Amino acid sequence: MKIGIFDSGIGGLSVLHEAYHRLPQQEYIFYADVEHVPYGLKTPEQITEYAIENTQFLLDKGAQALVVACNTATSVAIKELRRRFDIPILGMEPAVKPAVEGTEEKRIMVIATPVTIREDKLKDLLHRVDEEHRVDLMPMPRLVEFAEKEEFDTNEVSNYIRGQFANFDPSNYSALVLGCTHFNYFKPALREFFGQDTLLIDGNFGTIHHLADVLGIGMNEEQNTEVFFDDYHKILGSVKTEYYFSKKSVKDENTLEHLKRLHNRLEQVRKI
Ligand code: DGL
Repeated sequence: MKIGIFDSGIGGLSVLHEAYHRLPQQEYIFYADVEHVPYGLKTPEQITEYAIENTQFLLDKGAQALVVACNTATSVAIKELRRRFDIPILGMEPAVKPAVEGTEEKRIMVIATPVTIREDKLKDLLHRVDEEHRVDLMPMPRLVEFAEKEEFDTNEVSNYIRGQFANFDPSNYSALVLGCTHFNYFKPALREFFGQDTLLIDGNFGTIHHLADVLGIGMNEEQNTEVFFDDYHKILGSVKTEYYFSKKSVKDENTLEHLKRLHNRLEQVRKI
């Protein structure tokens, strides 16, 4: 089965990375719309237009199922994509439900792009699952910018995180929901700020689990990470995945090295 995965940029790589762990038998076409990143500061109309273009491109390349590995594009465009295209299409939304159900008493912080936070999709979700009003929302668009520059552990990143939460006490939070796929790269800095007692919850496992269900395929149990890590260097260069940066096939050494570094990073931060 050929599975298309798109995001505005490198955030979606975290979803692909999880797929490598759990569904390594499938083939992937990964599309990062780097020419239009960030989506989180654009209008819903623009984002929908890009999402349609990306999906059409992946379909033309033979994708038989699609993962919109972008909370922002899902918020505004998922209905339109499903209306237009006749393949299974999965989206992503902030994992608020597991956060509410999996923790008690203390508060929950959801971080996402401004678009995801503004849109009705998240409001409807909160209305359904946040009965006790424990959830707070924080837009963090600059993390997308930092990620695209491959800047993850700098003082600027820590200062930005501290600044955004200047009026919040991190010890009041039992969970931090990463409502944007780009935010996975910042788990170390977020962990440092929120401390060991706050659960960091991303939507990647849930999405891949859902994908396996929809496609009726079995999912790997957690693998020995070391073994997998050796393997993925092979996976990256093999026919198993085609990488596109806004319609351009990624073939040059520099960009492949860039992707390798990002997969390395994702492997390191996966369990934080
Ligand atoms: N990675 C995307 C998300 O999950 C959006 C980042 C952006 O382009 O603003 O929301």
